[in-house]
Amino acid sequence: MSVLNNKLAALVVLSASVLGFSSQAVAENYKQLLNMCIACHGVDGSNKFDSIPNLKGQNAAYMVGQLKNFKADKRQDKTMSKVAKLLTEEQMQAMADYFNTGKEQD
Ligand code: HEC
Repeated sequence: MSVLNNKLAALVVLSASVLGFSSQAVAENYKQLLNMCIACHGVDGSNKFDSIPNLKGQNAAYMVGQLKNFKADKRQDKTMSKVAKLLTEEQMQAMADYFNTGKEQD
């Protein structure tokens, strides 16, 4: 598990530096960002890792709220606190909708 966590953490850092996040590029980088989420949470938000919450079908407003909390350091997690800081509110909403409905938003 810790080896996996390290690999995933490396992936996050790599994705972040390759993409060069900016709020104007929401549409282009949304799907690449989503790939990062999927690496941990699973393609439909469900996964078998004890330490990673299932997001499949989770309430979208709840997920946006949690992402905002991570971004604002009101909730802290080694990974999610970093990941959430990369996201605009628009991207949070699109991702929450994706995990809630199982469909990509365009
Ligand atoms: C490296 C693995 C990893 C990546 C990448 C990752 N997450 Fe997470 N995520 C976690 C872990 C672990 C937690 C639980 C944190 C905790 O215990 O507070 C979590 C928590 C969450 C929660 C809160 C769930 C709840 O039930 O309260 C949401 C929402 C979420 N992640 C969304 C995302 C989104 C959206 C992305 C992509 C932008 C993403 N995550 C990327 C590992 C990851």
